Amino acid sequence: KMRSAPDTIASCKNCGEKIKQALEIYSETWTKQDFNYEKFRLDLRVNVNGFDEAVITQTNTPVGSRLVYDGERKRIMNVTQQIYDLFPKGHPFSNKRWDTCAVIGNGGIVANSSCGKMINSADFVIRCNLPPLSNGYEKDVGTKTNLVTANPTILLRKFESLVGRRRPLMKKLSSYGNSMLLLPAFSFGMNTAVCMRTLYTIQDFDSAIQPAFINPEYLIKLSKFWHAHGLKEARLSTGVMMTSLALELCDNVHLYGFWPFGIHPFNFKNLTNHYYDDMKPNTNFHSMPVEFGILLQLHKNGVLRLHLGDCQ
Ligand code: CTP
Repeated sequence: KMRSAPDTIASCKNCGEKIKQALEIYSETWTKQDFNYEKFRLDLRVNVNGFDEAVITQTNTPVGSRLVYDGERKRIMNVTQQIYDLFPKGHPFSNKRWDTCAVIGNGGIVANSSCGKMINSADFVIRCNLPPLSNGYEKDVGTKTNLVTANPTILLRKFESLVGRRRPLMKKLSSYGNSMLLLPAFSFGMNTAVCMRTLYTIQDFDSAIQPAFINPEYLIKLSKFWHAHGLKEARLSTGVMMTSLALELCDNVHLYGFWPFGIHPFNFKNLTNHYYDDMKPNTNFHSMPVEFGILLQLHKNGVLRLHLGDCQ
């Protein structure tokens, strides 16, 4: 039985106001505001330059450079020839631009949305943290993937840090075809070895997926950029990092699966944190409701388009 809206909102801890505000903004007709979009894009281009810097390459990170870990600023990696040899030569995004991009957050809101077809029709699809795409999820989240991120926590927990059997990870990665796999090897000290092992495994197994390391310098600049735009939290969520990248690479940015609240905005049913499980977010690290407020503002200003409802 559907509960009434005010009841539901009152039962959602500390987020009633935010949900109400979101619904008000979302109910207005969305139109892209070219001026706002171009201005924001230029701001990103000038200050963070994901176009040429988002991924570590042999061009932007020569032998002898010092990589400062973005999550542990006192930690440095000196780039030796051996590490340098793992980097791609040129930057994958330089001079590339796509018309429509879809960024898929992992929020429970995308479950039963039937947005899979619409997501698959985007020119460039970005996903976060090795999400599942089969077993019925395809109708809601699609299957097309051009870029996917991997969080070391999953590599550690679900794939035994790649010190045991490696085939399960290969099987998992096969669902993303020949997309790019972004690994945060130089964000925290504990990430480096497991991300390197992931890259070695992919190469040794001749997997189609193309691994690359996220550039910590890009993440440091991005964090400063968002700080100036009101995001003062400890660390940006992967979803915000990928949205920022999409805003540089794509003319039209569509977001799905971004809704950090426990209640569906239209049917008021309880939502799980992810579309595939109910693992809770790490609130010491991120403040997703604050981030969401900023994404909502960008939606309101016609810079990007959030999708909260069903796609049929
Ligand atoms: N997200 C969201 N609402 C949710 C769950 C996730 O908006 N209910 C967005 C966030 O931007 C998040 C992204 O989707 O970064 C991917 O989700 P998830 O895999 O849950 O990320 P986390 O593991 O929580 O964290 P991290 O951002 O550090 O990878």
